[in-house]
Amino acid sequence: MSGELSPIDKAKFVAAKRAADYVEDGMRVGLGTGSTAAWLVRCLGEQVREGGLRFKGVPTSTRTADLAREVGIEVISLAEARWLDITIDGADEFDGDLNLIKGGGGALLQEKIVATASDQMVVIADIGKEVEHLGAFPLPIEVIPFGWQTTQALVEETLVSMDVLGRQSSLRMNGERPFVTDEGNYILDLHLQRIGNPRQLSLVINQMPGVVENGLFIDICDAVVIGYGDGRVEVRDINEGTVEQDRLDFLESDNLFTDLAD
Ligand code: A5P
Repeated sequence: MSGELSPIDKAKFVAAKRAADYVEDGMRVGLGTGSTAAWLVRCLGEQVREGGLRFKGVPTSTRTADLAREVGIEVISLAEARWLDITIDGADEFDGDLNLIKGGGGALLQEKIVATASDQMVVIADIGKEVEHLGAFPLPIEVIPFGWQTTQALVEETLVSMDVLGRQSSLRMNGERPFVTDEGNYILDLHLQRIGNPRQLSLVINQMPGVVENGLFIDICDAVVIGYGDGRVEVRDINEGTVEQDRLDFLESDNLFTDLAD
């Protein structure tokens, strides 16, 4: 990519750049998936190459693993790391309690495992991801391919007794074929419009045979770094109860902008 970034890309970039400050020498860091997380990986790669930062990254998808290696980050598996200091990842929606919907990129299972294995999870997002109530973004659930149609019917039937506005679901496709996750599973997207009780919904969905995991992240996220298209960033820390504001510069000469694939 060359030339001017769109406001949304600028917002994602400044959120990622600010969140890169959380990473210190010697840390084991969970690296999220998606376009915002890709900015983070590029920022961290630049700090490794040019600033001498030394850390180990645990990617949450094959896409992120490939990018991390490409930019010079040392990649290890979760099995090698066992426990992480921090995970930094994007989100599709976040609410005032920093509960999230994730999985728009299909990596929710690894993302949730890695985030849960971390002392701290920091979300990076543009301001457009903030919602009063979760659910406008379709909730992804990862299901076993065997009998997925039966799982889908069971999920839709169960939604009748849940505090949600919509009950339609759709199998995520990749062209003519079902989208297949890194773990070899399918994704059902639940079009719920509004989720009244995310905690209850998450527990109930995960009880169903055939469901591997859902994209609701409840009480997992500790802080969110919100980016704006004009370079402002806001850091909300739910544990500290603090809100910090900052502004970052865009350097169009920054070599991060020269070879964008996402
Ligand atoms: C990947 O599976 C997702 O959880 C992403 O983190 C989420 O979809 C946010 O992606 P963007 O940063 O591309 O919006």
